[in-house]
Amino acid sequence: KRILVLISGNGSNLQALLDQAAAGRLGGEVVAVISNKADAYGLERARAAGVATEVLPGRDFADRDSFDAALRQRIDGYTPDLVVLAGFMRILTPALVRHYEGRMLNIHPSLLPKYQGLNTHQRAIDAGDDEHGCSVHFVTEELDGGPVILQARVPVFADDDATTVAERVHVQEHAIYPLAVRWFCDGRLAMKGGQAWLDNQ
Ligand code: GRF
Repeated sequence: KRILVLISGNGSNLQALLDQAAAGRLGGEVVAVISNKADAYGLERARAAGVATEVLPGRDFADRDSFDAALRQRIDGYTPDLVVLAGFMRILTPALVRHYEGRMLNIHPSLLPKYQGLNTHQRAIDAGDDEHGCSVHFVTEELDGGPVILQARVPVFADDDATTVAERVHVQEHAIYPLAVRWFCDGRLAMKGGQAWLDNQ
């Protein structure tokens, strides 16, 4: 299967996918990485793995619709089976999301439906939660609201700050994101009737 990854930053989740692909455990190949930030470290990770990269800066476009039209054209040029959002920090238009519905995944650093949006780690601490985590979900028009595929939990300790919790969550992200991608590549995972569905093949 052909996997295309969208990033904006560090790309540690991208690295987890590249590592699993190199080990033959992803069920697919990362064919390209597109970033909206030219200085995203994840672009270096992609280059080091011999993966094609492209940069599409938001400021080059007058509005969201024209950015997303250009993005869609770039993505579809690689004919991916799956589009993976891995720290891609732009909100996508409903038209673009609909175009990839059922074949676009995101990972969000909270136990959805809790803490959609930004600053999830600090919000979990401020709320006094004793557990937190991350969720892989299909992308739908509702921001961070698509059907959840897989979640991992981590404890929150009294002496934690947002950085220590984020590190703990990241370890889990790197474990569960490649797993969900593999399920999709193996044809076991689909979105049906607005729900995520894992088949027992
Ligand atoms: C992760 O915490 C992910 O859950 C969120 O953005 C962050 C990306 O981190 N969507 P990285 O760029 O993969 O290191």
